[in-house]
Amino acid sequence: MAKRKRRTQAGQEFMRRTQFKNLEPTGQARREPPPMPELPHRGETVALPNPDQIETAEMDLRRAIDERASERVFFDEPMRLDELAYLLWATQGVKEVAQGETFRTVPSAGARHAFETYVVVNNVQGLDRGLYRYLALGHALGAMERSEEIGDRIANATLQPELIQTSAATLIWTAVGARMTWRYGDRGYRYIHLDAGHVGQNLYLGAMAVNCRTCTSAAFNDDELNRALKLDGVEHFAVYFGSVGK
Ligand SMILES: Cc1cc2nc3c(=O)[nH]c(=O)nc-3n(C[C@H](O)[C@H](O)[C@H](O)COP(=O)(O)O)c2cc1C
Repeated sequence: MAKRKRRTQAGQEFMRRTQFKNLEPTGQARREPPPMPELPHRGETVALPNPDQIETAEMDLRRAIDERASERVFFDEPMRLDELAYLLWATQGVKEVAQGETFRTVPSAGARHAFETYVVVNNVQGLDRGLYRYLALGHALGAMERSEEIGDRIANATLQPELIQTSAATLIWTAVGARMTWRYGDRGYRYIHLDAGHVGQNLYLGAMAVNCRTCTSAAFNDDELNRALKLDGVEHFAVYFGSVGK
């Protein structure tokens, strides 16, 4: 009787093929130039309050860690623009640029920082509803689409639409894979997902300092969410999101 071939589990295959000994030479090893640390934005931008001038609550780190919890339903109460600006800063803010690399408020493997942050705005004072992208290098928002419809489309691409629908704002972290794989090859995909964890935790802790709460999630239909964000889903793809509100 012919032996039935066991289907390789994708996760196990991924872990095996991304071991250092199994990697192909990377772009960096081939002396290719590194990808830019941020995608360009064409169109209107909205300046954000300077992080140094944003007042946050006195929040003991121990208390923030002890009291952090996922909140999945939010009051119909707006966030202030400076609160959102602080959370964007806390999750992806650029503190220094040196030799084309960014150093940010979160760690990243090799300082490669593969993320872009898309922001669904539902209820933030001073901002129209719609989709924006955080331009971390200039600490500003780039307007992508000012409409109510885009928020619904993005919410409906997730498995819990009410999380995004009731939030004041949702931060969606997408990865430009080449920024990480340029140095680490396919192993970089491990690091993208590790980096996302740090970003999410800074959102949880940062939210405590601006009297907001959050719940992060990766439960989305990849194709639908990538399409809604106009990403190709291969070179640039959605990884993780966090909804925030009061
Ligand atoms: C990677 C990740 C994915 C998550 N996905 C969801 C999700 O799809 N839906 C949800 O309601 N919560 C989600 N959460 C929140 C967890 O359910 C939550 O952290 C867990 O239940 C523990 O609760 P706590 O955060 O209040 O301590 C996710 C958290 C992480 C870190």
